[in-house]
Amino acid sequence: MSSFALNAEIHYVESLKIFEEKSGEFGKNEEMPRGFLSSLVPRMLNQSQQLNILSVGSGNGEKDLLILKIIEENLQNTDHGSQTKIFNRAIEHNSYSRGLYNTAIENLPASVDDRETKFEICPQTFQEYSIDSEKEPVKFDLVHFIHSIYHVDMEKALCHCFEKELGENGVFVCIVSGHDLIYWVLAKQTKDWHGREARASENYETAEKLIDIAKTRGWKHEVYAKEYSIDVTEVFDPKSTKGNLLLDFLTHTVNFRETAEKQLVEETLAFMRDHTILKDGKRLGEKTESLIAIYK
Ligand SMILES: C[S@@+](CC[C@H](N)C(=O)[O-])C[C@H]1O[C@@H](n2cnc3c(N)ncnc32)[C@H](O)[C@@H]1O
Repeated sequence: MSSFALNAEIHYVESLKIFEEKSGEFGKNEEMPRGFLSSLVPRMLNQSQQLNILSVGSGNGEKDLLILKIIEENLQNTDHGSQTKIFNRAIEHNSYSRGLYNTAIENLPASVDDRETKFEICPQTFQEYSIDSEKEPVKFDLVHFIHSIYHVDMEKALCHCFEKELGENGVFVCIVSGHDLIYWVLAKQTKDWHGREARASENYETAEKLIDIAKTRGWKHEVYAKEYSIDVTEVFDPKSTKGNLLLDFLTHTVNFRETAEKQLVEETLAFMRDHTILKDGKRLGEKTESLIAIYK
């Protein structure tokens, strides 16, 4: 759905990196995944000697490794945890990100490495993966989409995962953004100016949609929400490389300042100025994130 994530390859990854640097989120704050995983690991384990994890839109693997680290800590506290094997399948179509992921798994933290965790990286979009009949079928204990569900049809993805990917006690987990500065900046980008199929912000109305789907299907759900801030100070400096990359990430556009209509650039910057506060010389905006766990 989002052409920026699908087509911009290195530029997308670089702008995402600056976005992560400038915003507090779960990569820096482990409280949210630690909280939900400590209650879910015993459920997922359920006598099994192996935990299977499917990560969709895995990026550079940083978050996958963080999840594995937290699972590892939780396994230490369970009866058979020390013998449990882990298989982690990642789906990532961006070749630049896959390169970073491969480097990360060559340098695993000792705790994850000691367990001889097996990794597989599928060079596909989720849509391609879900119709790939040659893939070895595996029943997963955890399927996670960390800031990647925006790029797929949510209902189809959930149904596919519950019908084909998840085992009996499996859990579907999404981390998504809320109605924060990023959402409103995207909402300003109208659908027709660079060939989008839909307003990109519509893909970000996810938490509510996911909960509605779960309720309609009679699945259980849990929500953990967190508020952070994002530092957009550099966006207002037209010469700042980081500022321009951040602006590109927020608008989902390669080189937004140069390629968008002048009026849209001005309106977007004015909007950001009006919806941020100045604190200690930094211009800060609101960022919200929810973790939604769905299971039967
Ligand atoms: C915001 S990044 C999140 C990356 C990683 N999960 C993290 O949190 O660091 C979104 C990821 O989704 C991937 N993506 C985009 N469209 C996708 C699709 N159709 N299927 C699977 N992944 C997709 C992008 O390549 C990117 O790596």
